[in-house]
Amino acid sequence: MSSLVRRFNGRKAVLDGISFSVLEGEFVSIFGKSGCGKTTLLNIIGGLDRPNSGTVLVNNRNLVELSEDELAKFRLRNIGFVFQDFNLLLDMTVRENIALPLAFGGKNDDRHVADLLKAFDIEDIAGEAANKISGGEAQRAAVARAMVNRPAIILADEPTGNLDDENTDRVIETLMVAKRDFGATIILATHDREIANRSSSTLFLSEGRAILQHR
Ligand SMILES: Nc1ncnc2c1ncn2[C@@H]1O[C@H](COP(=O)(O)OP(=O)(O)OP(=O)(O)O)[C@@H](O)[C@H]1O
Ligand SMILES: [Mg+2]
Repeated sequence: MSSLVRRFNGRKAVLDGISFSVLEGEFVSIFGKSGCGKTTLLNIIGGLDRPNSGTVLVNNRNLVELSEDELAKFRLRNIGFVFQDFNLLLDMTVRENIALPLAFGGKNDDRHVADLLKAFDIEDIAGEAANKISGGEAQRAAVARAMVNRPAIILADEPTGNLDDENTDRVIETLMVAKRDFGATIILATHDREIANRSSSTLFLSEGRAILQHR
Protein backbone atom coordinates (compact mmCIF):
# COMPACT_ATOMS: atom_id res chain seq x y z
CA MET A 1 0.00 0.00 0.00
CA SER A 2 1.68 3.20 -1.02
CA SER A 3 0.53 6.86 -0.93
CA LEU A 4 -3.08 5.76 -1.03
CA VAL A 5 -5.65 8.52 -1.43
CA ARG A 6 -9.41 8.01 -1.45
CA ARG A 7 -11.89 10.86 -1.44
CA PHE A 8 -15.60 10.80 -2.17
CA ASN A 9 -17.25 13.49 -4.34
CA GLY A 10 -14.92 16.36 -3.64
CA ARG A 11 -15.09 15.96 0.14
CA LYS A 12 -12.04 15.90 2.36
CA ALA A 13 -9.99 12.77 1.65
CA VAL A 14 -10.96 9.81 3.86
CA LEU A 15 -7.56 8.24 3.19
CA ASP A 16 -5.01 10.98 2.63
CA GLY A 17 -1.71 9.33 1.75
CA ILE A 18 -1.61 5.96 3.47
CA SER A 19 1.47 3.74 3.13
CA PHE A 20 2.14 0.47 4.89
CA SER A 21 3.03 -3.10 4.14
CA VAL A 22 1.82 -6.38 5.52
CA LEU A 23 3.86 -9.58 5.53
CA GLU A 24 2.44 -12.92 4.45
CA GLY A 25 0.84 -14.72 7.37
CA GLU A 26 0.62 -11.62 9.54
CA PHE A 27 -2.47 -10.69 11.61
CA VAL A 28 -2.94 -6.95 11.31
CA SER A 29 -5.72 -4.98 12.91
CA ILE A 30 -6.98 -1.68 11.52
CA PHE A 31 -8.05 0.37 14.49
CA GLY A 32 -9.89 3.66 14.54
CA LYS A 33 -13.14 5.32 15.39
CA SER A 34 -16.33 5.16 13.36
CA GLY A 35 -15.97 6.97 10.05
CA CYS A 36 -12.15 7.00 10.02
CA GLY A 37 -12.02 4.92 6.84
CA LYS A 38 -11.56 1.30 7.96
CA THR A 39 -14.15 -0.10 5.55
CA THR A 40 -12.90 2.17 2.77
CA LEU A 41 -9.37 0.81 3.22
CA LEU A 42 -10.46 -2.84 3.37
CA ASN A 43 -12.54 -2.39 0.21
CA ILE A 44 -9.48 -1.05 -1.59
CA ILE A 45 -7.20 -3.85 -0.36
CA GLY A 46 -9.82 -6.38 -1.47
CA GLY A 47 -10.21 -4.85 -4.92
CA LEU A 48 -13.84 -3.84 -4.30
CA ASP A 49 -13.05 -0.13 -4.62
CA ARG A 50 -10.28 1.85 -6.27
CA PRO A 51 -8.22 4.65 -4.75
CA ASN A 52 -8.02 8.08 -6.42
CA SER A 53 -4.25 7.64 -6.41
CA GLY A 54 -1.58 5.41 -4.97
CA THR A 55 -0.64 1.78 -5.43
CA VAL A 56 -1.97 -1.40 -3.88
CA LEU A 57 0.57 -4.17 -4.29
CA VAL A 58 -0.52 -7.71 -3.52
CA ASN A 59 2.04 -10.39 -4.39
CA ASN A 60 3.78 -7.83 -6.60
CA ARG A 61 0.65 -7.05 -8.62
CA ASN A 62 -0.72 -3.52 -8.52
CA LEU A 63 -4.49 -3.91 -8.12
CA VAL A 64 -5.02 -0.38 -9.39
CA GLU A 65 -3.87 -1.48 -12.85
CA LEU A 66 -6.19 -4.50 -13.12
CA SER A 67 -9.39 -4.48 -15.18
CA GLU A 68 -12.73 -5.28 -13.50
CA ASP A 69 -12.53 -8.84 -14.83
CA GLU A 70 -9.01 -9.32 -13.57
CA LEU A 71 -10.02 -7.90 -10.19
CA ALA A 72 -12.94 -10.30 -9.94
CA LYS A 73 -10.61 -13.23 -10.66
CA PHE A 74 -8.07 -11.90 -8.17
CA ARG A 75 -10.76 -11.69 -5.48
CA LEU A 76 -12.05 -15.18 -6.12
CA ARG A 77 -8.56 -16.70 -5.96
CA ASN A 78 -7.02 -14.76 -3.12
CA ILE A 79 -9.49 -12.97 -0.89
CA GLY A 80 -12.00 -13.95 1.76
CA PHE A 81 -14.07 -10.92 2.73
CA VAL A 82 -16.19 -10.60 5.87
CA PHE A 83 -18.51 -7.67 5.18
CA GLN A 84 -19.51 -5.35 7.99
CA ASP A 85 -23.16 -5.95 7.04
CA PHE A 86 -22.52 -9.68 6.29
CA ASN A 87 -23.90 -9.69 2.71
CA LEU A 88 -25.39 -13.16 3.11
CA LEU A 89 -27.83 -14.27 0.42
CA LEU A 90 -31.00 -14.13 2.44
CA ASP A 91 -33.09 -16.77 0.73
CA MET A 92 -30.30 -19.32 0.81
CA THR A 93 -29.56 -21.42 3.88
CA VAL A 94 -26.62 -20.80 6.18
CA ARG A 95 -24.91 -23.94 4.80
CA GLU A 96 -25.44 -22.83 1.19
CA ASN A 97 -24.08 -19.38 1.95
CA ILE A 98 -20.93 -20.83 3.46
CA ALA A 99 -20.43 -23.24 0.54
CA LEU A 100 -20.94 -20.51 -2.08
CA PRO A 101 -17.26 -19.57 -2.61
CA LEU A 102 -16.50 -23.28 -3.16
CA ALA A 103 -19.30 -23.52 -5.70
CA PHE A 104 -17.94 -20.48 -7.58
CA GLY A 105 -14.69 -22.35 -8.01
CA GLY A 106 -16.56 -25.47 -9.16
CA LYS A 107 -15.77 -27.23 -5.90
CA ASN A 108 -17.76 -29.03 -3.25
CA ASP A 109 -16.51 -30.06 0.18
CA ASP A 110 -19.34 -30.95 2.56
CA ARG A 111 -16.94 -32.17 5.22
CA HIS A 112 -15.06 -28.87 5.32
CA VAL A 113 -18.33 -26.90 5.44
CA ALA A 114 -19.50 -29.13 8.32
CA ASP A 115 -16.24 -28.47 10.18
CA LEU A 116 -16.74 -24.72 9.82
CA LEU A 117 -20.37 -24.93 10.97
CA LYS A 118 -19.08 -26.71 14.04
CA ALA A 119 -16.15 -24.35 14.65
CA PHE A 120 -18.56 -21.40 14.69
CA ASP A 121 -21.27 -23.24 16.65
CA ILE A 122 -23.92 -22.74 13.97
CA GLU A 123 -24.58 -26.40 13.14
CA ASP A 124 -28.10 -26.19 14.54
CA ILE A 125 -29.13 -23.44 12.14
CA ALA A 126 -27.25 -24.73 9.07
CA GLY A 127 -30.52 -25.47 7.27
CA GLU A 128 -32.23 -22.18 8.14
CA ALA A 129 -32.61 -19.44 5.55
CA ALA A 130 -30.18 -16.60 6.22
CA ASN A 131 -33.06 -14.17 6.81
CA LYS A 132 -34.28 -16.30 9.75
CA ILE A 133 -31.17 -16.11 11.92
CA SER A 134 -29.84 -13.64 14.48
CA GLY A 135 -27.26 -10.94 13.79
CA GLY A 136 -24.58 -12.82 15.70
CA GLU A 137 -25.35 -16.05 13.85
CA ALA A 138 -25.21 -14.20 10.53
CA GLN A 139 -21.88 -12.70 11.50
CA ARG A 140 -20.39 -16.12 12.28
CA ALA A 141 -21.77 -17.52 9.01
CA ALA A 142 -20.16 -14.59 7.18
CA VAL A 143 -16.77 -15.36 8.76
CA ALA A 144 -17.13 -19.06 7.89
CA ARG A 145 -17.95 -18.16 4.28
CA ALA A 146 -14.86 -15.94 4.05
CA MET A 147 -12.64 -18.83 5.18
CA VAL A 148 -14.12 -21.73 3.26
CA ASN A 149 -11.83 -21.37 0.21
CA ARG A 150 -8.73 -21.17 2.44
CA PRO A 151 -7.89 -17.78 0.92
CA ALA A 152 -4.39 -16.33 1.17
CA ILE A 153 -5.85 -13.10 2.53
CA ILE A 154 -8.83 -12.75 4.88
CA LEU A 155 -10.23 -9.23 5.16
CA ALA A 156 -12.63 -8.95 8.07
CA ASP A 157 -14.63 -5.78 8.66
CA GLU A 158 -15.55 -5.65 12.36
CA PRO A 159 -16.23 -9.41 12.38
CA THR A 160 -17.05 -9.43 16.08
CA GLY A 161 -19.21 -6.32 16.22
CA ASN A 162 -22.39 -8.29 16.96
CA LEU A 163 -20.96 -11.02 19.15
CA ASP A 164 -20.83 -11.82 22.85
CA ASP A 165 -17.46 -12.58 24.47
CA GLU A 166 -17.65 -16.33 23.88
CA ASN A 167 -18.37 -15.96 20.18
CA THR A 168 -15.84 -13.16 19.81
CA ASP A 169 -13.21 -15.60 21.12
CA ARG A 170 -14.50 -18.26 18.77
CA VAL A 171 -14.11 -15.98 15.73
CA ILE A 172 -10.64 -14.74 16.70
CA GLU A 173 -9.45 -18.26 17.55
CA THR A 174 -10.75 -19.66 14.26
CA LEU A 175 -9.03 -16.88 12.32
CA MET A 176 -5.82 -17.78 14.18
CA VAL A 177 -6.28 -21.40 13.14
CA ALA A 178 -6.59 -20.23 9.51
CA LYS A 179 -3.37 -18.31 9.92
CA ARG A 180 -1.63 -21.38 11.34
CA ASP A 181 -3.14 -24.05 9.08
CA PHE A 182 -2.95 -22.42 5.67
CA GLY A 183 -0.84 -19.35 6.33
CA ALA A 184 -3.65 -16.88 5.81
CA THR A 185 -2.82 -13.22 6.14
CA ILE A 186 -5.51 -11.57 8.25
CA ILE A 187 -6.45 -7.91 8.13
CA LEU A 188 -9.22 -7.10 10.55
CA ALA A 189 -10.94 -3.77 11.16
CA THR A 190 -12.15 -3.03 14.66
CA HIS A 191 -12.82 -0.22 17.05
CA ASP A 192 -12.37 -2.59 19.99
CA ARG A 193 -8.96 -2.07 21.57
CA GLU A 194 -8.96 -5.54 23.14
CA ILE A 195 -9.39 -7.20 19.76
CA ALA A 196 -6.69 -4.98 18.26
CA ASN A 197 -4.37 -6.08 21.07
CA ARG A 198 -4.61 -9.69 19.90
CA SER A 199 -3.09 -8.93 16.49
CA SER A 200 0.63 -8.95 15.66
CA SER A 201 0.47 -5.33 14.52
CA THR A 202 -2.04 -2.52 14.45
CA LEU A 203 -2.62 0.15 11.85
CA PHE A 204 -3.99 3.18 13.66
CA LEU A 205 -6.21 5.21 11.32
CA SER A 206 -7.12 8.78 12.08
CA GLU A 207 -7.76 11.95 10.08
CA GLY A 208 -6.80 10.24 6.84
CA ARG A 209 -3.41 9.13 8.10
CA ALA A 210 -2.12 5.79 9.32
CA ILE A 211 0.59 4.61 11.68
CA LEU A 212 1.58 0.94 11.82
CA GLN A 213 2.70 -0.35 15.19
CA HIS A 214 4.19 -3.80 15.73
CA ARG A 215 3.58 -5.63 18.95
N1 LIG B 1 -19.43 5.30 -1.16
C1 LIG B 1 -19.25 6.40 -0.42
N2 LIG B 1 -19.66 7.61 -0.83
C2 LIG B 1 -19.46 8.72 -0.10
N3 LIG B 1 -18.87 8.72 1.11
C3 LIG B 1 -18.44 7.54 1.59
C4 LIG B 1 -18.62 6.32 0.87
N4 LIG B 1 -18.08 5.32 1.60
C5 LIG B 1 -17.61 5.89 2.72
N5 LIG B 1 -17.82 7.23 2.72
C6 LIG B 1 -17.41 8.16 3.79
O1 LIG B 1 -16.07 7.88 4.14
C7 LIG B 1 -15.88 7.98 5.53
C8 LIG B 1 -15.28 6.68 6.06
O2 LIG B 1 -16.24 5.64 5.96
P1 LIG B 1 -15.90 4.15 6.35
O3 LIG B 1 -17.11 3.37 6.10
O4 LIG B 1 -14.67 3.73 5.65
O5 LIG B 1 -15.60 4.30 7.91
P2 LIG B 1 -15.36 3.18 9.01
O6 LIG B 1 -14.08 3.50 9.68
O7 LIG B 1 -15.50 1.84 8.39
O8 LIG B 1 -16.57 3.43 10.05
P3 LIG B 1 -17.39 2.38 10.96
O9 LIG B 1 -16.50 2.04 12.13
O10 LIG B 1 -18.59 3.17 11.38
O11 LIG B 1 -17.74 1.21 10.12
C9 LIG B 1 -17.23 8.32 6.12
O12 LIG B 1 -17.27 9.71 6.38
C10 LIG B 1 -18.21 7.95 5.04
O13 LIG B 1 -19.33 8.79 5.06
MG1 LIG C 1 -16.80 0.30 8.61
